[in-house]
Order: sequence, then C-alpha cells, then structure tokens
Amino acid sequence: MAEIGTDIIKASEWLKTSVIGLPTETVYGLAGNALDPLRVADIFRIKQRPYFDPLIVHVPDIEALEPLIREFPDTLKELASHFWPGPLTLLLPKSKAIPDLVCAGLEQAAFRIPAHPLALKLLRECKFPLAAPSANPFGYISPTTAQHVAAQLGDAIPYILDGGACSVGLESTIVGVEGNSTVIYRLGGLALSEIEMRIGTCEVRVNESSDPRAPGMLKSHYAPKKKMLVGKLDELISANSGTTAVLIVFGSFRNDYPEELQLNLSETENLSEAAANLFSLLRLADEAPQKLILAEFVPARGLGLAINDRLRRASMN
Ligand code: TXA
Ligand code: MG
Repeated sequence: MAEIGTDIIKASEWLKTSVIGLPTETVYGLAGNALDPLRVADIFRIKQRPYFDPLIVHVPDIEALEPLIREFPDTLKELASHFWPGPLTLLLPKSKAIPDLVCAGLEQAAFRIPAHPLALKLLRECKFPLAAPSANPFGYISPTTAQHVAAQLGDAIPYILDGGACSVGLESTIVGVEGNSTVIYRLGGLALSEIEMRIGTCEVRVNESSDPRAPGMLKSHYAPKKKMLVGKLDELISANSGTTAVLIVFGSFRNDYPEELQLNLSETENLSEAAANLFSLLRLADEAPQKLILAEFVPARGLGLAINDRLRRASMN
C-alpha cells in the first residue's frame, strides 16, 4: 500500500524508479519521468489507459519547457504569461526530447505549470518533467485528495505526495491553436471567460468524442459506477419517484427530500466552491447505499460551464 506523506526528497527518490501520486491545484496526478518511456509505460499500465490517449507534461517554469518544444505561438505565450502557474494546459509542437508514447505519436504535446507549492518543489527537486494524467483508473472520477488516490491506485504505487484537498477541483482547461483560431479542447479549472478576456473569442470544441486530439472527452469519462441522471431535479425526482436517490444540489437544500440524501456543491452558490467540491461529492454519492444519483446543472457561466460538462459526462455511463 502506498505511503502517504509530504517528503519531497523521498518523492523525488521514488521518481527515479517508479511513478507516484502528485498533488496539483486541479486534481491529483499519477506522475512519472516524462523523458523515460519505461515510466511513461508504467503510467498507462497502472491507469489502464489506452495508448492513444496522450498525457500532460508538467514543468516548473518556462525555462524547463524550452528544450521540450519547437515553437511557442504568441497567443498561447500570452495565455501562459497570465495564467501559469495555473489550471491551463497548452498544446505545443514538441521537440524530440519527448518520447512519442507521451503524446500518442502526435506532433504536439500538452504542457502545464501547476500552481501547487509541493508540485513545483518536487519538479525542481527531481529535475525532469513529469508526465501525469489524473490519478484515477481510466474513465472514473478524478481524485482531489491523497486518500482518493490511495483508495484506487494505492496498491500499484509506492508513494503519494500529500498536498491536501485540491483548491480548484476540475482538470485544467486545454488550449491549442489551429491556423488562425484558438481552440479550447477541454473546459476546465480556468474559465473560458478569463481566457477570452485576454485573447478574444475562442472556438470551443469539446464534444467530438471520436477526435483523438482530445480523447479525454470520450464518452463516459469522469463517471461514477452507479446510474446518474442530470437535469431539472423536479422532473428527475418525479420521474424516479419509486427509487430513493442521492441528490447533488447547488444553493439551497430541497425541502421535499430528506436532507441527509442531499449533497450540496455550494450552499452560497459559489461556482469556485462547487468546482472544488464536485469530484469529492460524486465519490460520496457513488459510495452511498442508494442506487441512483440525481444532479442539477449549475448556472452556465464562468466555471459553471466546466462543472456542467463534467456532470453531463458523469451521467453518460
Ligand atoms: O488538471 C489536469 O490537467 C490534470 C493534472 C494532473 O495536471 N491532468 C489531467 O490529465 O487531467 P488527463 O490525462 O486525465 O487528461 C489529459 C487530457 C486528455 O484528455 C488528453 O487527451 C489531452 O489532455 N491531451 C494530452 N496530450 C494531448 C495532445 N498531445 N494532444 C491533444 N490532447 C492531449
Ligand atoms: Mg483524466
């Protein structure tokens, strides 16, 4: 069983021969040396992830990124200068230093500087970039605590660096350029509105489930094991009146349903709080004895777009 701890030196030692759990501000990662194809293969094996689904490479700063890329388009540089370290992943033409396995043979690799003090310390200590997908078995809900990682992958890894609960709670927003357009391939922890405020209108292309460019958007990603329905709670409750469900609500609790069966994303209707709570609450709902999860959409603004995207995908199992 993995040891859970906060020892950077120990984590860095383990990274010489293994993959470990890594805290970031978005979700926990399953991290290994991005320049070592053996460690990258370990990541795919442990996560049971198909090889066509590429990984994000994490670096501590722009200097560490430079030898890994061939060019850095101006719009993406602009985003990096405002939002890194942070919940933003950029697709950039990769140099030969990045093994093909990392990016499924694509010309571009995904890069991110995470905004978590322990992740940054570890990246500086180990001196190589870390490939890290979310530390969940393929298709399941992403982990936002070290305990979530231990519960599912604890038997397969030696160490989980414990950085506490993730402050953002949604995976990074993925951005790239195609010709003259800036394309958003995954809505995430950096709101689309923040990005568009800096660089103008972007093309959002997150629904093409067969597009190998964003396989993270495959159907039934982020999904609990039990049945989940999302929509208007009034309608869902009456359509499923024969079944006791766990409700995921936003704002006030409903007074027509037992409160102990309601998990509240944010009683104060705060979307950042809702994002930070989402995956933990989905796990609680999945572990509860009731066989059904009913959820309502949150307002479709700011981080609400990414939260609703995850709720929709969670219901596609
Ligand atoms: O917040 C995050 O991004 C977290 C933390 C650990 O950094 N990581 C994460 O990784 O969510 P993962 O593997 O669960 O999702 C990565 C997504 C996948 O949907 C993958 O398809 C996309 O990034 N991706 C990675 N490399 C790519 C590439 N070269 N081209 C297109 N999409 C890529
Ligand atoms: Mg993932």
